[in-house]
Amino acid sequence: MTFVRDRAADPVISGEGDRAMAPDTTPAHDRADALAILARGVRKAYAGARGRVALDGFDLAVAPGSVHALLGPNGAGKTTAVRVLSTLLRFDAGDVRTAGFDVARQSARVRSRIGFAGQYAALDEILSGRRNLEMFARLHHMRARAARARATELLERFGLTEAAHRPVREYSGGMRRRLDLAASLIPDPVVLFLDEPTTGLDPRSRAQVWRSVRNLAEGGTTVLLTTQYLEEADHLADRISVVDSGRVIAEGTPEELKSRIGGGRVEVVLSGAEMLSRVEEVLGRVAGAVPEVDADALLVRVPFDGRGAGLAKVVRALDEAGLDVEDIALRRPTLDDVFLSLTGHPGETGEGEEPS
Ligand SMILES: Nc1ncnc2c1ncn2[C@@H]1O[C@H](COP(=O)(O)OP(=O)(O)O)[C@@H](O)[C@H]1O
Ligand SMILES: [Mg+2]
Repeated sequence: MTFVRDRAADPVISGEGDRAMAPDTTPAHDRADALAILARGVRKAYAGARGRVALDGFDLAVAPGSVHALLGPNGAGKTTAVRVLSTLLRFDAGDVRTAGFDVARQSARVRSRIGFAGQYAALDEILSGRRNLEMFARLHHMRARAARARATELLERFGLTEAAHRPVREYSGGMRRRLDLAASLIPDPVVLFLDEPTTGLDPRSRAQVWRSVRNLAEGGTTVLLTTQYLEEADHLADRISVVDSGRVIAEGTPEELKSRIGGGRVEVVLSGAEMLSRVEEVLGRVAGAVPEVDADALLVRVPFDGRGAGLAKVVRALDEAGLDVEDIALRRPTLDDVFLSLTGHPGETGEGEEPS
């Protein structure tokens, strides 16, 4: 876990003064104070021989009560961004306001209003889930009785009541994430930062974390999360900022972004070439689009937008037409598709330099 070290070594964090920013003349919808997070032109280069520009003109505006996703490949700058926005890391240039305060000049005020999950190394393996939460609550200056009550409430909320007395070292990955999420909520944050909340989780644990995040959002907490999965951003976020090489290259609702990248595809593999034209006709009708045909691979492909050509619809239509096919697959758009369509190049992955 790198943030404790940075925090201690970071003068910007201890230097506290509450100078107000200059009067704001931007339009109301863009006003810093009306936003949960506003970042403008943020630049951050890491020091040292291997130092790199991690943020390079990073901009972000997050509306209060919304869930916003930073979507990007490994090394894009997502972790650096959330650490800057949450006061954990100093930055070189730009303006950042989080929860209504200036991150560089009013960091203590910002910190008292935010939560940060993704640091579950901070959980004590030997202690039970309940004791961990009570300890966090005590660190936040709650009295013993209030700390117990808060722990009980959060354990319940994250489905950990039954496991509450077990030591954390016996917890599954999903349980740890949920306990970590619960711990980050102890101070009742206005803005919650979640750095890759489901990376490495199995599908069931992922679904549980998703449910928890949605519950949070319904309760009015602003959530900024990072993810490498388009599906996750699509599922959770009101708006998505696509991050590449330290800057936002596209921003919009999941629907807007997906329509820009053209959604997914249904692919049908045939058992014989004689069916090609009939399958093409059926798929074209169901999808309301001209199918792509690869005669050599015996493959017919149509766009899938989640409305017209659902997989079930395609299966039914082929069945009704008496067409017995080899294989039908739904290919959902991935982060790679996003990058390919936005930048013309695939996202760089497998850099293996994830620092935390
Ligand atoms: N502590 C660090 N020291 C030097 N370079 C770093 C450090 N942390 C991250 N980087 C570099 O900064 C860039 C952005 O990293 P990061 O913010 O971790 O991206 P992401 O979270 O999107 O994977 C990468 O090139 C990474 O190698
Ligand atoms: Mg990261």
